[in-house]
Amino acid sequence: MSIFRKKSATATLDADKHDGTAHTTEHHEKHHETHHTKESSTVTIDTAIAPAGTSLDSATEADLQQKAKDHLWMHFARQSGMEDGKGVPIIVRGEGHHIYDSKGNKYIDGLSGLFVVQVGHGNKRLAEAARKQAEELAFFPLWSYAHPTAIELADRLAEYAPGDLNRVFFTTGGGEAVESAWKLAKQYFKLMGKPMKHKVISRAIAYHGTPQGALAITGIPGMKEMFEPLTPGGFRVPNTNYYRAEEMGFHGSLEEFGQWAANRIEEMILFEGPDTVAAVFLEPVQNSGGCFPPPPGYFQRVREICDQYDVLLVSDEVICSYGRLGYMFACEAFDYIPDIITSAKGLTSGYSPLGAMIVNEKVYEPFKHGQTAFYHGYTFAGHPVSAAVALENLNIFEEEGILEHVRENSPKFRAALERLLDLPIVGDVRGEGYFFGIELVKNKETKETFNEDESERLLRGFLSKALFDAGLYCRADDRGDPVIQLAPPLTIGPAEFDEIEGILRRVLTEAWTRL
Ligand SMILES: Cc1ncc(COP(=O)(O)O)c(C=O)c1O
Repeated sequence: MSIFRKKSATATLDADKHDGTAHTTEHHEKHHETHHTKESSTVTIDTAIAPAGTSLDSATEADLQQKAKDHLWMHFARQSGMEDGKGVPIIVRGEGHHIYDSKGNKYIDGLSGLFVVQVGHGNKRLAEAARKQAEELAFFPLWSYAHPTAIELADRLAEYAPGDLNRVFFTTGGGEAVESAWKLAKQYFKLMGKPMKHKVISRAIAYHGTPQGALAITGIPGMKEMFEPLTPGGFRVPNTNYYRAEEMGFHGSLEEFGQWAANRIEEMILFEGPDTVAAVFLEPVQNSGGCFPPPPGYFQRVREICDQYDVLLVSDEVICSYGRLGYMFACEAFDYIPDIITSAKGLTSGYSPLGAMIVNEKVYEPFKHGQTAFYHGYTFAGHPVSAAVALENLNIFEEEGILEHVRENSPKFRAALERLLDLPIVGDVRGEGYFFGIELVKNKETKETFNEDESERLLRGFLSKALFDAGLYCRADDRGDPVIQLAPPLTIGPAEFDEIEGILRRVLTEAWTRL
């Protein structure tokens, strides 16, 4: 029985079963490669540079590029990149922790797509779970009706969730889960006779999604200004970037920094008036800005503050849950119990879209009675196929010991990345689980960062493409200071850590010479 479930569980752990690790059966050009399995044993298996049917012939490639240029609007991307005729990387296939582009090139998926593909690409069990469910019941909504996979998944998530977070409201993704949580918090306080409690507090540079409510919680000014005015009521406090704590005016130990940063939340509640603040939205490890872990004691102090002022604590685990930090829910990693968890991404390992908001009994209670309803929902939320995939994904987690594997190997991953600290451009390596950020600096001693022009040349002009060309798909980001982010499939081990470190070393060394 899994140690990660809080109630009785039926699935068993079976560490011998594997799926989702890199192996291909069809080959264009065969060669041998050494891989480490999740248990870190070294095995030699056949892999392929380009599995048969992977690369597209040049006419098909040209046709797709033309159609993309003419019709496909990319997300968070400059369309000028499509217009200038260079084309867009077209990813045609995934296998284990590798992806392949239309030209047959193979890359390590160092970001699990977008913090999503926990058990790796090409997993037959997940594909089969989707096929089977689509045949049986392809679609039905959760609007006053239910279907078995959504019911089973809600039960399963409630088992995993800490404390009395027992009520599961499905969405189709993360931003919708965040949006739902803010709306729920507002309605909860109206039902509790505190109708003025509607504001939300979040942290500088944090990303919480794009719907106008979630965007008002997001703390990245450059992503918001063109959509102002947003939903009113979003307020920002400092994040937990200890590397740059002094720039926030803090001098002291990590523990003291944690108390200082948490107390900024109390300060904001008092500035705005406790009677007006509904919720605090925090990621366990903040993604945007480059993986800021919470200092020891931070979340314990935040919990205390939230309890004192009757403010809901929302743990936005859209990235951090479902194994990313080695736990089903990341609040477990830092020993706090929120009122609401928002999640998505890794729940299905990306084989079908799904998000979930998980709510405690206190917040659910007023909705139990009379004619009260949460007038909110999404047609595709809790989709039967997605729910079936999520259930099978969670089975794989248990049978293959994915959480244990991440916890065991995370220190090795960190150690491999920390070797890069000998490079003059690497200022900081931080993160938890399989979720790390590498901050790049112009001067290690002074921590001087790059100006806008240098950042543009370094990240967009060179690094993103150079890393990709070198065989590593990952993220080079400058929503805060310039960082490279890694969040690979949870199935990889030390051999892949070394491979990733090797690629980063070569490319970052080259980047330094170009500055
Ligand atoms: C913490 C957090 N919240 C919300 C979101 C939004 O999720 P989605 O893109 O599924 O709407 C993200 C996406 O990366 C996220 O990282």
